[in-house]
Amino acid sequence: MSGQQAGLPVNSVGIGLRSVHIERILKEQPEVPWFEILMDNHTAQGGLIPRQLAAVREHYPLSLHCVGMSLGGMNPLDVAYLETVKRMMHEYSPVQVSDHLCFTHHGIHHFNDLLPIPFTSESLNHVSGRIDKVQDYLGRRILVENVSTYLQFQSSEMNEAEFMFELVNRTGCGILLDINNAYVNEYNHGFSAKAFIDTIPVEHVGEVHLAGFEDKTEYLIDAHNNRVSHPVWKLFEYYLQFGHGAPVLIEWDNDIPGLDVLLDEAARAEDIIFHYSESAARYA
Ligand SMILES: [Fe+2]
Repeated sequence: MSGQQAGLPVNSVGIGLRSVHIERILKEQPEVPWFEILMDNHTAQGGLIPRQLAAVREHYPLSLHCVGMSLGGMNPLDVAYLETVKRMMHEYSPVQVSDHLCFTHHGIHHFNDLLPIPFTSESLNHVSGRIDKVQDYLGRRILVENVSTYLQFQSSEMNEAEFMFELVNRTGCGILLDINNAYVNEYNHGFSAKAFIDTIPVEHVGEVHLAGFEDKTEYLIDAHNNRVSHPVWKLFEYYLQFGHGAPVLIEWDNDIPGLDVLLDEAARAEDIIFHYSESAARYA
C-alpha cells in the first residue's frame, strides 16, 4: 500500500485528545508521546476548532480514529465521509488511521453504536472488498479494531480473531487491538480473550487500546468511562509476551476526568511495558 508513513514511537503510550483538556495541553505541553483524535468528534459541532488541532499537531504526532467508515455495512461506502478523512489526513498528517470491524449505517439510518457483523465467508469477502476500496481511496493502510458485542450470530462460521486474521491476509490492513473489547466479549459471551490474542497476527497490531468498562453485573458495556480494570491490565501483560512494541492508547470518552488521571493511567501502562521489555532483555 502506498502512502505508508513511519509509525508512532515504539512502546509509547498516548492518550485521547479531548476538548476539556486542550487549553492545559497547549499551555503546559505535557510529556505525552502522541494523541489520538476522534475524527467524528472533531468534525461535529463543539469539537476542537482547527486552529487548536493544528497547534497540538505542531508539538505531537496524531493518530486519527474514525467510527463512520461502516466497514461491515451494506450501504455503499460513504465517499463524502472518506473525503473528510482524506482532508484531515492532509491537514494534520496523522501517523495512523483506524476504524472498527462493525457497521454504523444502514439504509437512511446512522447509528451511534458500533454494530456487530456475522463472521462468515460471505461477509469476509464483503468486508475485505470494502477495506481494499477504503485503503485505495485514502492511499494508505488502515488499522481495523475489534469491537465489544452484546449478541452473536448463529450464522458465524469463524470467530472474530480468525476473521481478522483473514482480513489482514487479504487486504494488508493492520489491527487495532482493543484489549478491553476482547475482555468485554469474554465476559459477555464466554469467549477467551487470551485465545483471541493468541489467534490474531500480533505482528500486524499497529495500535493497542486500553479502556474501562461499565459493569452491569450480568454483562459489561464498553463505556470508556472508567479506569482500566484489573483483568484488562492482566490481559495487557499477557499480550506483551507476544507484542511487538505497538503504541498503546488510554481510551476514555465519557465522564472524562482531569488530564492528570489520564496521565496516571498512561504512566501505569508505561511501567508495565518497561517491566516486560526489561525482563525480555534479561532473558534474551
Ligand atoms: Fe477502542
